[in-house]
Amino acid sequence: MGSASNSPHRKPEADAITRFYDQYPYPPPVTDLDSYLDSWNEPGRRRAEHHLLFPSQPFRENPDLLVAGCGTSQAALHALRWPAAAVVGIDVSETSLRHSEELRRRYSLDNLELHRLPIERVAELDRSFDIVVCTGVLHHLADPDAGLRALRGVLRSDGAMHLMVYARYGRFGVEMMQEYGRMLGTSTSKEEVRDLAETLAEVPDGHPLAHLLRNSPDFRRVDAFADALLNPRERSYSVPELLDTIQRGGLVFGRWYRQAPYRPQCGAVAATPHAEALAALPEPEQFAAMELFRGTMVRHSFIGYRSDYPPGKGPPSFDAGGWLRAVPIRLPDTIAVEERLAPGAAAVLINPSHTYTDLVLPITDAEQRLYQAIDGKASVTEIGRKAGVDANAPTGHLADFFRKLWWYDQVAFDTSALAGEAVAP
Ligand SMILES: C[S@@+](CC[C@H](N)C(=O)[O-])C[C@H]1O[C@@H](n2cnc3c(N)ncnc32)[C@H](O)[C@@H]1O
Repeated sequence: MGSASNSPHRKPEADAITRFYDQYPYPPPVTDLDSYLDSWNEPGRRRAEHHLLFPSQPFRENPDLLVAGCGTSQAALHALRWPAAAVVGIDVSETSLRHSEELRRRYSLDNLELHRLPIERVAELDRSFDIVVCTGVLHHLADPDAGLRALRGVLRSDGAMHLMVYARYGRFGVEMMQEYGRMLGTSTSKEEVRDLAETLAEVPDGHPLAHLLRNSPDFRRVDAFADALLNPRERSYSVPELLDTIQRGGLVFGRWYRQAPYRPQCGAVAATPHAEALAALPEPEQFAAMELFRGTMVRHSFIGYRSDYPPGKGPPSFDAGGWLRAVPIRLPDTIAVEERLAPGAAAVLINPSHTYTDLVLPITDAEQRLYQAIDGKASVTEIGRKAGVDANAPTGHLADFFRKLWWYDQVAFDTSALAGEAVAP
């Protein structure tokens, strides 16, 4: 394992965050990644992930990938998932890196390198990357903008970043309980964390923390509980604050990693009297309005690109006709349910990674024929032809249906055959 010297970061070990993660490494360490490995052996999973990040770049198995703030297992998971990739994991916490190193050895991950290095000094690696993954970290930095700029500095111009930061409104209950903990002087000793967990189990229904206590896996284990409630430094972002941060960092917003919760065209809100007015807002305002409407989003997970990303290589634009030649690829784990359906529905499409239960998509018989023809090879036009739907009506049924599948996180698009034509970001 490589090591770095000093702080903010010449001396990572002097920082409160480093000490905290040395005591409570995150996520709670695991030793068995066999079922994870099995799931990524499924053909097509890596290709779907690639095109989620890079709709317009031909699929490749060997990206250079940085996991920044890798914690106990994330870098090892990426090295398992992309066996032909060169993966680098960095973190300030020695304990977390030790767990990562154990996984590296146990699974013979020769494609994984680990370094004790703060994000702020990532340039010292003297490397650049196709993919930078940084989830659950930037909001803990003393200066998140500086961290983001440092990451952008090692991202290749046609690379992609997958970032996740805390969302503001859904974490209001967490902030309340952080203040409560400070009033009582709750320390991070195992005993006091256990007492806090036991006490908070009694917060009344309707408390702003209740939805997390009942639903989030992070509140089921004492160590994860400490991460959520006793972290010495964190901040959170509303959608507009996040979009400003991305812009200040010299990046552009690509897409939400899972976008349906941010789209007023999806779920229960689409059938309300406000549906049309919400959908008429510019996209950034649609996203901001949906964060306010949903009220319980606890994190924002998204894909960003450098602002000097080569033109025409971004996500598909449904305003242009070119995407009709794009190839839809089903996202992993999505399912079609054909039981207990509402009248007129032939199936209901579900992406189980959605936490909001209204984000299910009922489809008709004709739509089911289109859906069943998605094989990861045929373009939208070819699928339309197979299913007997006229592809010369780009604003008609075919266009609407595939845009809906995309909004609902059912498909990603491979637009690489279009070589940049008519698919401007
Ligand atoms: C909540 S954990 C997230 C771990 C991992 N990214 C994941 O999603 O599973 C935050 C991690 O960021 C690390 N970290 C915090 N500040 C850092 C910094 N300045 N540079 C590098 N890593 C940092 C912590 O040590 C911790 O392992």
